[in-house]
This record gives sequence, structure tokens and C-alpha cells, in this order.
Amino acid sequence: MSKAAVAALGGDPGRAVLSIPRYARTDLQIGEVTVRAGDLVLLDIRAANHDPTVFPSPDRVDVTRQGPAHVSFGHGAHYCLGAPLARIELQAVFCQLLARFPTMRLAVPVEQLRVRSNAVTGGLTSLPVEW
Ligand code: HEM
Repeated sequence: MSKAAVAALGGDPGRAVLSIPRYARTDLQIGEVTVRAGDLVLLDIRAANHDPTVFPSPDRVDVTRQGPAHVSFGHGAHYCLGAPLARIELQAVFCQLLARFPTMRLAVPVEQLRVRSNAVTGGLTSLPVEW
């Protein structure tokens, strides 16, 4: 995880944030960790799309990425029902925002950004910008 991402988590990379719960259906070996069938596994969403062997420079925002499909909307049986709506909303926001405010930038050092811990959806407590 990048220093900026750790800073956004209040400086503690181990701090629990939004996790997706799953129960293992079979025994699994993930690195040095053995997961037994029936174990509860909490999937930390901060790790999604951040395997550098799959997503080069994963912390860099690059809207021209052509690489493998991301898993931001999940995968499989529980794939996000609202994904089509979310895509329309995000396209509208980013197209309009950048066109209207092309010089928009962060108004505070990235280390000062804080992740909300009281909302299931996560996000930042605030995102001060200037232009
Ligand atoms: C950028 C916006 C969004 C992101 C990143 C997102 C992400 C996700 C992810 C990762 C899951 C899978 C959870 C799991 O595997 O347990 C999910 C499920 C779901 N999402 Fe979204 N979502 C977004 C927007 C929305 C919107 C706008 C709606 C509804 C209008 C919505 C409704 C749902 C529902 C109902 C599920 C549960 C699907 C199921 O369990 O079968 N989401 N979302």
C-alpha cells in the first residue's frame, strides 16, 4: 500500500475498514495462511485492484487503462446490482467536473485526508479542492 493510502487510513495500514465477509467453501492456502472450509474470511476492499503484477502502478489514477477487468463492483453471484447506474453517474460527474473545472486540485496535503469509519460505504470525511 502506498504512503498516501496509509496516510488516508489515519496512518495505520492495519486499521479495519470496509470488508466483505465470505465463508470458505473449501480448504484454501493463501500465501502462508491456511483457511479451513467454513472459516469466516473478511476481504479488505483496499486490496481490490491493487495487485501490482496485474495492475501496474495500482495507486495511480489512469483513466486510459486498458488492462484486465477491475473488481470494483465485485464478482460472481453478488456482482453489484447498481453497477450500470453507478457507471452512468460517475461518467456524468467526471465528464462535467473536469470540463467545468480543468485546474481543480487538492487544497490540502493528501496526508490530511481522512477515511470515514462510520459509514458502510466508506469514502472521505471531506475532500477540499481549489481551482
Ligand atoms: C461506485 C459505486 C458502487 C460501487 C463501487 C459498488 C460496489 C459494490 C460491490 C463491490 C458489491 C459486491 C459486494 C459483495 O460481493 O458482497 C456490490 C453489491 C451491491 N451493490 Fe453496489 N456499488 C456501487 C453502487 C451501487 C448502487 C448505485 C447501487 C444501487 C442503486 C448498488 C447496489 C448494490 C446491491 C443491491 C448489491 C448487492 C448485490 C448482491 O448481493 O447480490 N451499488 N456493490
